[in-house]
Amino acid sequence: MPTAVTVGRLDDLVPGTARKVEVDGHLVALVRIEDDVYAIGDTCSHANVSLSEGEVLPQDREIECWKHGSTFSLLTGEPQTLPATQPVPVYEARVEDGQIVVVVP
Ligand code: FES
Repeated sequence: MPTAVTVGRLDDLVPGTARKVEVDGHLVALVRIEDDVYAIGDTCSHANVSLSEGEVLPQDREIECWKHGSTFSLLTGEPQTLPATQPVPVYEARVEDGQIVVVVP
């Protein structure tokens, strides 16, 4: 059963940055690009590294793992560059009354 969880205010997430949150047991990287918010699994699929500590690539809607440089689509979770070959999960994220809501399965 999907669970919608409020994880914080949009205003507290600086555009072009990411932040790690725990949502109902899932580690999620919240990413803001302009006024859009994305929610992607925080743990790199290549090794146990936090993607939210990497660089957000707003033009490409991707986030880059700081460890070995794989980039992941914020839309699909698919790695766009090696060495990662497996996707990370993506979650529905929306803004309601200025609050970020993430839906986890
Ligand atoms: S740990 Fe992320 S690319 Fe290697």
